[in-house]
Amino acid sequence: MTASPRPPRSLPLLPGHGGRSAMTCLYRCGNACSHAAPNSSDNPYFGDVVNAEVSRRGLLRAGSLGALVIGVGAAALATDAAPAQAVAPAGHTGPRPPINGAGLTFKPIPPNTLDTVIVPNGYDNAVILRWGDPVVPGAPAFRADRQSAAAQATQFGYNNDWLVTLPLDRHGRRALLVVNHEYTNENLMFPGYTTPEALTVEQVRVAMAAHGLSVVEIERVGDTGQWVPVTRGARRWNRRITAGTPMRFTGPAAGSALLRTAADPSGTMVLGSLNNCAGGLTPWGTILSGEENFNQYFVGGDAVPAGAKPALTRYGIDTVNRYPSGSRKWERADARFDLSAHPNEANRFGWIMELDPHDPNFTPRKHTALGRFKHEGAEIILARDGRVVAYMGDDERFDYLYKFVSDKKLRRGDKPFDRAHNMTLLESGTLYVASFGFSSAPEIDGSGTLPADGAFNGTGRWIPLARGRQSLVPGMSVDEVLVHTRLAADAVGATKMDRPEDVAPNLRTGKVYAALTNNTRRGATGQPAADEVNPRSNNRHGHILEITEDGGDNAATTFTWAIPIVCGDPADPSTYFAGYDKTKVSPISCPDNLDFDAHGNLWISTDGNALGSNDGLFAVPLDGPERGHVKQFLTVPVGAEQASASLSDDNRTAFVSVQHPGEIDGASMDNPASTWPDGDYARPAVISVWRVDGRQIGA
Ligand code: FEO
Ligand code: CA
Ligand code: CA
Repeated sequence: MTASPRPPRSLPLLPGHGGRSAMTCLYRCGNACSHAAPNSSDNPYFGDVVNAEVSRRGLLRAGSLGALVIGVGAAALATDAAPAQAVAPAGHTGPRPPINGAGLTFKPIPPNTLDTVIVPNGYDNAVILRWGDPVVPGAPAFRADRQSAAAQATQFGYNNDWLVTLPLDRHGRRALLVVNHEYTNENLMFPGYTTPEALTVEQVRVAMAAHGLSVVEIERVGDTGQWVPVTRGARRWNRRITAGTPMRFTGPAAGSALLRTAADPSGTMVLGSLNNCAGGLTPWGTILSGEENFNQYFVGGDAVPAGAKPALTRYGIDTVNRYPSGSRKWERADARFDLSAHPNEANRFGWIMELDPHDPNFTPRKHTALGRFKHEGAEIILARDGRVVAYMGDDERFDYLYKFVSDKKLRRGDKPFDRAHNMTLLESGTLYVASFGFSSAPEIDGSGTLPADGAFNGTGRWIPLARGRQSLVPGMSVDEVLVHTRLAADAVGATKMDRPEDVAPNLRTGKVYAALTNNTRRGATGQPAADEVNPRSNNRHGHILEITEDGGDNAATTFTWAIPIVCGDPADPSTYFAGYDKTKVSPISCPDNLDFDAHGNLWISTDGNALGSNDGLFAVPLDGPERGHVKQFLTVPVGAEQASASLSDDNRTAFVSVQHPGEIDGASMDNPASTWPDGDYARPAVISVWRVDGRQIGA
C-alpha cells in the first residue's frame, strides 16, 4: 500500500453507536440514534407477500438501452453546444472503455486505523480541495483563527459528501467538480470551542455558510489521473450554495399552505439547502442533492400547534422540549429556525434540490413531486419509453425506499427548448414507495442464515402515493402526501428497511442497488423483526440490495429482488458475498454510497465501520465468476467517513470525498484526533486517486 510519510497515529476507535463515535451522532444527525426510531406506525406489510420461489433474471436489455439513451443524449449535448457549455454528465459520455476481462486486479489493502489515506500499491492520491480553500475568485485564504461568515461563503464548505464531475471540454482536461457539504463539526472548526451555546452568532453564521454545495472548476495534471483546482482566469462557474441561498419550490406542493411562512406567504421560495448528503446526475447535465437530517436545525417544536406535532415527530423533530439534545442553536442567528414562531419552516427542508452548475445565476429548485423525507440522494435512469426514473432512500431506521417516474419524456436534443423541457421533468410524475414480498419468509430467524432456496430474495411492488396533482392515499391531500411523505408511506404499508442510503441504478444493466447501511434496533424488543429483505437482527454491518424491475423497464410497478452482499467480517457466518469464496473477500461494514466504474463494477463507500478499521472504499464485480469478490481499495483517516466516490468517465481517476476526519469523542481543533491532511488539524477534503502508470483504476 502507499501512504504519506507522516508517522501513523493509532488512536482507539471509541464505539458510540455501531462504529460511530458519540460526536458523530451529535453532529451528523442530532443524536438520532439516541432517540426512538421515528417510525412507530402500525404498518403491516401489504397483503401481497409472495411466498413463491423467484429465480434471478439475466441482464436486462431494456435497462442497457436506457443507459445507452443517456449516453447518446449526453453526447448530443456535447456535440453542438458552445465549447464553454459543452457539458455532458461525467460517466455518461462517449464510448465506454472495453471491459477488462481480468476484472478488478488491484491488490486489496488491509483494514487499518492509520491517520492517512491508504491506497493500493501503484496508486497515489492528493487533495484537490479542503475545507476553507478559496472557491469564488477573490476569496480570502483560510485563517482558522479569524474565520468569518463572509469568507466562508466564498470558500470550500465543511464536511464534503457526495460529489460528481462534469466535463468542460471534449478532451477530458477541464471539468466542474460539484460537492455537497452535509454538516459542520463546530468543535473541530473553531479554536477554543467549548459548547454550542458559547459560539458567537458570527460563528453560527460561519457554520451556516459552511453548509450547502461548492461548484469548482478543476483541471487535469498533465496526462495523469490527478486533478487540481483551476486558480487563474474567470472561473465563472465557481460558486457556493449555502444555508441562505434563495431557492424555489416546484411541483404540486409548491405554494401549499404547509410551506407558507411569514417570510414567504406564497410558499414558493425558501432560503438555503440543509444537510446535503448524497445526490445524482441528470441526463440533461444538472445535479440533484438530497436534504437529509434537517430535523437537527430546528428548536421550539414544543410550541407548534397541536395539529402539526404528529408530522414533525414522524420526521424526528422533538415536539416536547424547546431545545432538544443535539440542536444546533441556529435560531440565535436566524429566527426562522425556531418553530415556536415559524412552525412551517421545517416543512421547507427534506427535499431533493436541483442545481444547474453551468448557470452561475441559477436559482436552485426543490422538487416537491419527489416527496419529503430524510433524502439520502436521488439517482436517475431512463425508463424504456424515455420517462425519467429517480430512485431514492430515506435514511432512518425502519424507513422506506422510494422511486419517482416522470410524466413527461426526456427530449434528446440540445437546443434551449429541449433543455428547458428537460428542466421540468422532475416537476410532475408518480411517487412510489416499495413493498417487498418474500420467498422464504418462514425460514428467516434473524441469524442471517441463508434460506434453503439459497437466497434472500423475493418479489416486490411499487405502491403509488401521488400521481401528478392527485393523491392516491385515502384521507390525505396531494400536498399532505408530498410534504408528509413518511405518513403517506406508513398508510399504504411500505416495507420498513434497515436505513436505506444510496439507491443507484446500474446504467449498464438497469438493475438497481441499494445500500442498507445498518440497523441495530432490528429485532429488538418492541421493534420490527428481521424479514427476508432485512434478514439480520441487530444488523450492525448492513447489506446490499439488488432490484430487477419487471420487463426490464425501470418504470415498472413490480420487481424481483435479491441480496447479493450481507456485510461484515467474512469469518462471521451471517455474512454473504454472492456465494464467492469468503476467504478471499475484504471485510466490509456499513455500506453507504454507491457508484459504478466504466465497466459496471460497483464501488461501495462505507460510513461507520463497526469492525474496528477506518472507513473505506471497496469495489466488487456484479456479474460473472467474480460476482461478490469484494476488495478494499482505500481507507480514509482516523474518524473520517468515506462519504462518496465518483469514477471518472475514462476510469483513470477516482474522486473521493473524505468527510469529518478526526470526528472522535473528546477531539477538538486544539486537541485533534486526526491531523490529516496537512499535519496540524483535521480538514475535510476531496482528493483524487490515480494510478501512477496512468492506466485505468482497478484494472
Ligand atoms: Fe448523510 Fe445517510 O448519510
Ligand atoms: Ca429466498
Ligand atoms: Ca451518506
